[in-house]
This record gives sequence, C-alpha cells and structure tokens, in this order.
Amino acid sequence: MSTSQDLAPFLDRVDYPLYVVTVRAPDAEMSGCLAGFVTQCSIDPPNFLVCVSKVNHTLSVAERSSGMGLHLLGADQVDLARLFGEESGDRVDKFASVDWRLGSTGAPLLVESAVGLEGQILGHFSVGDHEAFLMRAVRAVAGGHGGILTYRTAPPLHPGHPA
Ligand SMILES: Cc1cc2nc3c(=O)[nH]c(=O)nc-3n(C[C@H](O)[C@H](O)[C@H](O)COP(=O)(O)O)c2cc1C
Repeated sequence: MSTSQDLAPFLDRVDYPLYVVTVRAPDAEMSGCLAGFVTQCSIDPPNFLVCVSKVNHTLSVAERSSGMGLHLLGADQVDLARLFGEESGDRVDKFASVDWRLGSTGAPLLVESAVGLEGQILGHFSVGDHEAFLMRAVRAVAGGHGGILTYRTAPPLHPGHPA
C-alpha cells in the first residue's frame, strides 16, 4: 500500500479551504473541528461530504446529530482555526470562547466566519480512518470576514488529534 511519502508529489501541491464543522446532539452536547476533507458531491440536491476523523471528539457527537454547520474561515481567522484544529473537545469547551447561535437544523452556527452553510445530516459511512457525513445544505449563513483561509495559506497547524 502507498504511504503519504509515496504520494507526496501529488499531496504537496493540493490546496483546499479550511472549514469549521459544528454539531450538537439532542442532549445539547456540542462539538466541532477544523476540516479540510470536505467537498460538494451533488448540485441538485445540494449535497456535501464532510469527513470526520474517527479519533476526533466531533465524531461521536456528529453521529447523534441531525444538523451540521459548515463554516468557511476568513483569511484573518487563524486563531479560530487553531481553536478548532489544535484543541480537542476531549479537553476543552471550544464553544465557551466563540459567539454562536442555534440554527434551525439544531446545529450550532458560528457568528464569525467568511460564510457558512447549515445542513441536514442524511447519513454517514466509513471511508477509511475518517467517517463521511452526507449533508444536505439548507441555507447559507452570512459571516462577514473577507478572503478564505486555505491549507496552504494558513500557517502550520498541529492537529489536536493525530489522524
Ligand atoms: C489543516 C488541518 C486539516 C484538518 N482536516 C481534518 C478533517 O478533514 N477532518 C477531521 O476530522 N479532522 C481534521 N483535522 C483535525 C482536527 O481538526 C483536530 O484533530 C481537532 O483538534 C479535533 O478536535 P475534536 O477532538 O474536538 O473533534 C484537521 C486539522 C488541521 C490542522
């Protein structure tokens, strides 16, 4: 099987936006993480695949949630990327230090972002060391920050969990 090293000529050139994925379970437990493994996978209906690492705190909460927030970060939002990408809900309450509101799907929506989406979780399935969540977008959520933070434009970030 190929290793990440073998695939470096490809992987070293790929860029993608960094998102903050947010979820809230029926018992009101909330979680969220920084995610790059996100893609639209259908135009009509407007479906997205959001891949959550199986070791992340976010996974167990997402599995019990019916709604999901998906936020693009503005170019100036490195601190928010660090909070959601370098800290874990296993150890800290990430939502204690950010403004958020409850969306109509039950997902917690960040007030500060470039722009966000709120969606219904239709299902999820294993795709390897990540679990892919199929999300039907229901509305865009205004964020207000300019530009887009991407994997290559962000400073080095150190994931709160190894995978
Ligand atoms: C640049 C970058 C991209 C990441 N992409 C993903 C991703 O697509 N899916 C994922 O589940 N975690 C991803 N992570 C890792 C999580 O954001 C990180 O481990 C986080 O601390 C997990 O938080 P949690 O335990 O509260 O869920 C990424 C981290 C970084 C720094």
